[in-house]
Amino acid sequence: MTTRPSSGSASAVGDYDKVLVVDLGAQYAQLIARRVREAHCYSEIVRGSIRADEVMSHDPSAIILSGGPASVYAEDAVDIDPEILRLGIPVLGICYGHQAIAHALGGVVERTGSGEYGRTRLDIEDASVLFEGLPDSHDVWMSHGDAVVKPPPGFRVTASTGSSPVAAMQDDEKKLFGLQFHPEVHHSPRGQEVLRHFLYKAAGLMPTWTNASIIEESVAAVRARVGDARVICGLSGGVDSSVAAALVHKAIGEQLTCVFVDHGLLRHREAEEVIETFGGHFDMRLIHIDAADRFLAALAGVEDPELKRTIIGETFIRVFEEVANDLEETSFLVQGTLYPDVIESGSGEAAKIKSHHNVGGLPDDMDFQLIEPLRDLFKDEVRAVGAELGLPEEIVWRQPFPGPGLAVRIIGEVTAERLEILRAADDIITDEIRKAGLERELWQYFGVLLGIRSVGVQGDGRTYAHPLIIRAVTSEDAMTADWARLSYAVLDQMSSRVINEVEGINRVALDISSKPPATIEWE
Ligand code: XMP
Repeated sequence: MTTRPSSGSASAVGDYDKVLVVDLGAQYAQLIARRVREAHCYSEIVRGSIRADEVMSHDPSAIILSGGPASVYAEDAVDIDPEILRLGIPVLGICYGHQAIAHALGGVVERTGSGEYGRTRLDIEDASVLFEGLPDSHDVWMSHGDAVVKPPPGFRVTASTGSSPVAAMQDDEKKLFGLQFHPEVHHSPRGQEVLRHFLYKAAGLMPTWTNASIIEESVAAVRARVGDARVICGLSGGVDSSVAAALVHKAIGEQLTCVFVDHGLLRHREAEEVIETFGGHFDMRLIHIDAADRFLAALAGVEDPELKRTIIGETFIRVFEEVANDLEETSFLVQGTLYPDVIESGSGEAAKIKSHHNVGGLPDDMDFQLIEPLRDLFKDEVRAVGAELGLPEEIVWRQPFPGPGLAVRIIGEVTAERLEILRAADDIITDEIRKAGLERELWQYFGVLLGIRSVGVQGDGRTYAHPLIIRAVTSEDAMTADWARLSYAVLDQMSSRVINEVEGINRVALDISSKPPATIEWE
């Protein structure tokens, strides 16, 4: 095993073999990093312009060069530092990475005029450790214009396709491998096997990155960092802060105090669940602040969505600040930052809080040091760690929920009465999705209460009540989303139950907009 320098942020990673994924500009780098971790090897993404000496400072056991949108001859092409290929570390180039290896080492890359996009038949030409146990001919996923037409000296061709004479190549001695296809996408059905062969057989890595080992390492790192100090954690009940709290609690027990600010804009039984789970089951020191009245008062008469958000953010800050000021000698703050947040922010450094951040907005002038036990993990890994730590499924598999809560799902003024109506309707939607077994297929599913009223008839009487919109979407990462094709039976059940059981709603409609151009939440 290699030794990794401490990041200083008490993250989950200790001494693991590391696979460096060099991001050459496509959207595939994150996916590759995830697939490597699914093979139980730790991976990190670095920028494409990285130099060989910097690569060495990461001390990787294997390197993967990602795909990229560019041609190696394009003006804005990211040139890899060819010295990376001479470090003696096994390298796998994928798509553009494959071409970049060929280009850097004296092979020939050409625009053949017939690019390959989508499912393509791959024919194995020569034995390769990467294709062990795979059929001589199988489908892979391609997406490229240029192709390697001649491999560099020292390489042999191991697979081809109709348009790519060099669809796979390798230099056995130097352990350099190139694949024109994308093994990381599900459309390459044998792709994960190819990746695993690279990791285990070509690079000699061991599958040691498991949930149990992540927890063990993380617990040790938090203990070493914190010592006897006291730690505070803003708990929202969402997946990330819940898993972070459970992990830190496992490490330091009583030294941790969680602060749960209930703004009264939560879903049915959400506050109770958080209190039962953390105060009861985990026996954590939990400060529960019921600030519902304060938030409602601050929101009185407000209809503008942005104003609502600002008011909620500010009120949260004030409440949290008051609690934090009462907790003396607390010098660390736990945050549920995930690896995608770290990648997107482009910064790998743990820092003292100087500006607002994603916990829900914390004061500028608080002088905490951050503990981010999840900063090396993807969402699916966080869920797996949460389950391993014994968090209930309702929390581990909770759908994303916006910080401003139900307030951005009530169009118009937020009142106690409207909150009660929406909470009851939302609970029915959740229940029906669960009964239909769809909760893991959907990204989010919820109700939106409109401020307008329409006429209806119930029993023998006229009603004049609010419409409820059903919003259910599928998504990978919330950047884009599609409306979920729920069956008529599920929709029918939701509609009749909401209208019959929730006083104040007499009409149900379905939101069939994707994102973009709509957003997932209505405000
Ligand atoms: P939109 O509505 O922009 O939302 O498509 C994308 C994702 O982000 C969630 N969301 C929030 N999450 N604080 C959060 O922590 C917020 O203020 C917030 N607003 C939206 C939303 O639920 C969806 O998953």
